[in-house]
Amino acid sequence: MSPRTTRTPRAASRTAAVSRTAAVSRAKATGRNKNVVEVTNLNVSFRTATGVIKVVENVSFSVAKGECLAVVGESGSGKSVSALATIGLLAKNQAIVEGSVKFLGEELLGKPESYMRKIRGGGISMIFQEPLSALNPVTTIGEQIAEVLVAHDRGNWKTANAKAIEYLEQVEIAQPARRAKQYPHELSGGMRQRAMIAMALAGEPELIIADEPTTALDVTIQAQVLDLLRRTTRERGTALLLITHDLGVVAETADRVAVMYAGQIVEEGPAATLLRKPASPYAIDLVSSIPSYERRGKGLSTISGNVPSPAHFPTGCRFHPRCRFAVAACAKTMPQLESTGGGRAVRCLRADEIARGARPTSTAKRAAAGGAKRPVKAPAKRKAAR
Ligand SMILES: Nc1ncnc2c1ncn2[C@@H]1O[C@H](COP(=O)(O)OP(=O)(O)OP(=O)(O)O)[C@@H](O)[C@H]1O
Ligand code: SF4
Ligand SMILES: [Mg+2]
Repeated sequence: MSPRTTRTPRAASRTAAVSRTAAVSRAKATGRNKNVVEVTNLNVSFRTATGVIKVVENVSFSVAKGECLAVVGESGSGKSVSALATIGLLAKNQAIVEGSVKFLGEELLGKPESYMRKIRGGGISMIFQEPLSALNPVTTIGEQIAEVLVAHDRGNWKTANAKAIEYLEQVEIAQPARRAKQYPHELSGGMRQRAMIAMALAGEPELIIADEPTTALDVTIQAQVLDLLRRTTRERGTALLLITHDLGVVAETADRVAVMYAGQIVEEGPAATLLRKPASPYAIDLVSSIPSYERRGKGLSTISGNVPSPAHFPTGCRFHPRCRFAVAACAKTMPQLESTGGGRAVRCLRADEIARGARPTSTAKRAAAGGAKRPVKAPAKRKAAR
């Protein structure tokens, strides 16, 4: 978990470290397969002023040692809520979480907060989009990394301070000894995110969940930070759950991808094959919005309409009001996520027809099915910034 949750007074942190290590060791001992995390049929609902609203439905995924699973989808599709539910960070008085979350084979759903805090401290680290909100503004970067080390029983304060500098060096921060003595506001955005990665690594987690870790950075720094995150996790065999809305990032970073839409996974599979030949209309449209050399001169498309609000998910296939391939049945029948072989699965009633080359539905048929117009051309300049 974010280092903020591991910030305990020095005297207390040693005791906390022992029980935290014990909790993670217990989890490790019970883990029998290569998957670090296995989420099955995760459902998340929120209690709101207008009643209980389900925002994530039957989401299942796993991430193996050293693997990177990217979860992609437009804003509001349920990526962050799924991640927060996985690590028990949704407020219990607001969220109802059901299903199964196994970390190293051990069920985490239903565990008390005190236990989850230990697992988050030692087994799972999280990197957020905006490091400033996760870093303590009144503690130096070096001290914050040292706190993680002490909390995990990896030395006393003296040795931890020296080790903190080594971690800053590992994440390629120039002049690490000087930077260790600085406060978060004295570092650039890219450096702060590197420091967050250093803190995440200092916990020696089995799983890192990175929620839009580079969105706040400029494009060149984004590439460097992602490369660093991927390299360090691969070298250490850490599982990486990377949440992003940017398929360009996925192409460069992920082994596998899960595409989310309106609280459900609509397609999943190995990154290389899914990006080369997406099978569901939603993924097809998403992929055609990535700028690429092959598609130069063809323009980029956007998907018309917006992700529906969870209070108003459409009947049948949730994508049907925006789908170019929609037919009447799509508004009535909710497709299931079905395996199509090669590690891939697709949620679409017309997946077979589309795979055989079906063309988008005629405008009249689409209108009858409540379906969408053809995607509009996006100004190339705006999209190229992604
Ligand atoms: N505490 C809450 N109470 C009610 N609804 C919520 C709450 N938190 C999130 N939601 C809703 O759950 C849905 C999924 O939100 P989530 O933050 O997971 O989206 P996301 O895919 O991460 O989007 P983004 O790319 O913008 O971060 C949204 O419709 C959001 O409004
Ligand atoms: S073709 Fe129908 S089922 Fe498939 S994505 Fe479009 S609306 Fe959904
Ligand atoms: Mg989010």
